[in-house]
Amino acid sequence: MTERINQNSSNNLMDVSSEDLNKIILVTGGAGFIGSNFIRYLMGKYPKYKIINFDKLTYAGNLNNLSSVEENPNYVFVKGDVADNRDVKNVFEEFNPNYIIHFAAESHVDRSILNPDIFLKTNVLGTQILLNHAKENNVNKFVQISTDEVYGSIEKPISCLEDSKIAPNNPYAASKAAADLFVRVAHQTYGQVVNIIRCCNNCGSFQFPEKLIPVIIGNALNNKEIPVYGDGKNIRDWIHVDDHCKAIDLVLHNGKSGEIYNVGADNEWQNVKLVEFILDELNASKNLIKFVEDRKGHDLRYSVDSSKIKKELGWKTSIDFDDGLKQTINWYKSHLDWIEEIHSGEYLNYYDKIYKDRSVETS
Ligand code: NAD
Ligand code: DAU
Repeated sequence: MTERINQNSSNNLMDVSSEDLNKIILVTGGAGFIGSNFIRYLMGKYPKYKIINFDKLTYAGNLNNLSSVEENPNYVFVKGDVADNRDVKNVFEEFNPNYIIHFAAESHVDRSILNPDIFLKTNVLGTQILLNHAKENNVNKFVQISTDEVYGSIEKPISCLEDSKIAPNNPYAASKAAADLFVRVAHQTYGQVVNIIRCCNNCGSFQFPEKLIPVIIGNALNNKEIPVYGDGKNIRDWIHVDDHCKAIDLVLHNGKSGEIYNVGADNEWQNVKLVEFILDELNASKNLIKFVEDRKGHDLRYSVDSSKIKKELGWKTSIDFDDGLKQTINWYKSHLDWIEEIHSGEYLNYYDKIYKDRSVETS
């Protein structure tokens, strides 16, 4: 059942008069890492837009991430599940959004290996339910926040183009790839206006400490071992979350309907090198690194070619990654209470489940 928590007046949300004022944007998953960064970004840049943050508040959703905007009359939070038709119907009936930016997802690969079913439900069924309501309500555009993981592991020096083969290797990636196909079908079959954005690994503030960078920082600050999967030579391309937000902004406003846009930073790091860099920044000992049993189906490398979004929409990264990473480290250092609150909840069970049985291979 939907529940409106920050009860700004829905009448305010309908009080619109010009093209710009007319944007009522349903942001799903806005209480998570990228969604909350995006809402702050969008509200800073377009103060007249009305934002409805629709989020189930799973373990990864945290309304504290949005404390800086919660009093803004153009922002409202609605608690609801994208995979529940009634919840989605209710939010459409109440707010009549004309744009959807769909972040809501189960987003962590390790969790998907433990329990794929919820990934299928939220990421695939949830996307289709939103698409159904977008069609019924003649939504102007649906933007699907996808991932570079849908292309699977890519050998050096290849980078995937938007029409490269989809070859996911873990349940999370498979669910995102399936969702992308349903978004494609919404365009091909029903003529819905859609875009898909496939971005690389994001770094920034408010990232839940199950993902590599906040695990490294949180553990190092607590003088705890840092689990590095396999030999640590897997490669990820890292982007600052604000550069991803800029790409979403450009696609929302100028993306050509039906198009997919890759977003990569050409900033590849071996995992172990990234861990060492962060430990150096924190003046922490490299002895904290523990090589542990590898992730099942662990993709060696992701890489996307972003020429299309650069050429068509003029996007480029604007944050130097080392600076962005240092800022991120400082953010976690100055938000120890934010990490602590998470560390003291359900997180402990999760951490045990993921790491306890991983045998240490070397140290
Ligand atoms: P996150 O796990 O931090 O946040 C996910 C949010 O979705 C949470 O607020 C959660 O409560 C909400 N949610 C989960 N299930 C829901 C449901 N059934 N109904 C409504 N809300 C629900 O995720 P994130 O890292 O911010 O990723 C956001 C999106 O970006 C995802 O679609 C992910 O696939 C994609 N993506 C992430 C990255 C990355 O590096 N983190 C990179 C590329 C793409
Ligand atoms: O590429 C985009 C994807 O990036 C997003 O679609 C996903 O939502 C997001 O979770 C992320 O997936 P990854 O699996 O790449 O991210 P993660 O932070 O989980 O892991 C990054 C790398 O670090 C990966 O090679 C696994 C490794 N790793 C991760 C953790 C959590 C470790 O070695 N140790 C760890 O404890």
